[in-house]
Amino acid sequence: MIDIRSDTVTKPSKEMLEYLMTAEVGDDEYKEDPTVNELEEFTANLLGFEAGLFVTSGLMGNQISLLNHTNPGDEVITTSDSHIQNYEHGAASFLSRIQFRNVQHEDGNLDLEDLKTQINKSSYNKPKISTVAIENTHLSSGGSIIPFEDIKKLYEYTSSNNLKLHVDGARVWHAILENKSNSNYGEYCDSLTFCFSKGLGAPIGSILLGSKSFIDDSREYRKKIGGGMRQVGIIASAAKFALINREDLLDDHKKAIEIYDQLIINKNKIDGLDSIIYKGTNMILLDFTSIELSDKFLEKLLNSKIKAGYLREKVVRFVFHKDINSENIKKIIEVIHSFS
Ligand SMILES: Cc1ncc(COP(=O)(O)O)c(C=O)c1O
Repeated sequence: MIDIRSDTVTKPSKEMLEYLMTAEVGDDEYKEDPTVNELEEFTANLLGFEAGLFVTSGLMGNQISLLNHTNPGDEVITTSDSHIQNYEHGAASFLSRIQFRNVQHEDGNLDLEDLKTQINKSSYNKPKISTVAIENTHLSSGGSIIPFEDIKKLYEYTSSNNLKLHVDGARVWHAILENKSNSNYGEYCDSLTFCFSKGLGAPIGSILLGSKSFIDDSREYRKKIGGGMRQVGIIASAAKFALINREDLLDDHKKAIEIYDQLIINKNKIDGLDSIIYKGTNMILLDFTSIELSDKFLEKLLNSKIKAGYLREKVVRFVFHKDINSENIKKIIEVIHSFS
């Protein structure tokens, strides 16, 4: 089966498994796991932060950031389609007891004027807005990249208006590598989390990055929500292996482009396919005119042993990752050509 539902389906490679077998471990709750300590330091240095905390998931990284940056009843500014608001099982209201306020955006890039309007609207009888959360790459628009220069401008505004800026960078390496952009996020946001368990190919884990005091407090929150871990150097070393090999993510962009080109050529042959969206990283979105026709399309793929899925109703998502090889790409192209 060729599984292009998500980049979360990647399995650890043989090389990764061999690498992790040699990991030195200790009790991470005592900060005695040398492999975890090294990963946290290595990652913080890579992205220009003071410190890092290994957490179980992207969701945990996002939610610990909100616990840190907000007080109950605050508002957090984000986009109406963000992961932190829509796909985290209500964790923000459950844990931090905050509410969200949405601002206009293009592909996840906040409209600074609208942001300023929303902040100015906030007055004595409105909730306090304490945090702004962005997502890079931006999932709902198809993995689009927020230019680093725009993040800098946003941070200039948030830092001078007493607001914290959090970056949900679950797939931030796609943005950094594709744009060959500055990776010095530590200077331009208050916190950032990214996932080792998506395109990077590790079985589990994310990192949360910030200032030393932010990470000290985050360690406390991680414990409170049951995220404390023990001899996790084993999985931290898989994460380190993934990070060392991060340039491989660019191969996934090439795979996406190859399939995108074929989809464009064959678009009219696919019943009900309205538009094909590619935003320069590892995903393609296929927007259909009806759910019946998108269901039919997915069924036909499945009959050819290709498993794709939905991003949202009528919008099919192809996500390319390290476990899709050149033979798989050939097969997908063959199946695209077989539509008539
Ligand atoms: C943009 C974004 N943020 C956060 C997450 C949460 O990551 P996890 O599944 O590790 O909790 C995801 C997962 O798909 C995501 O796509």
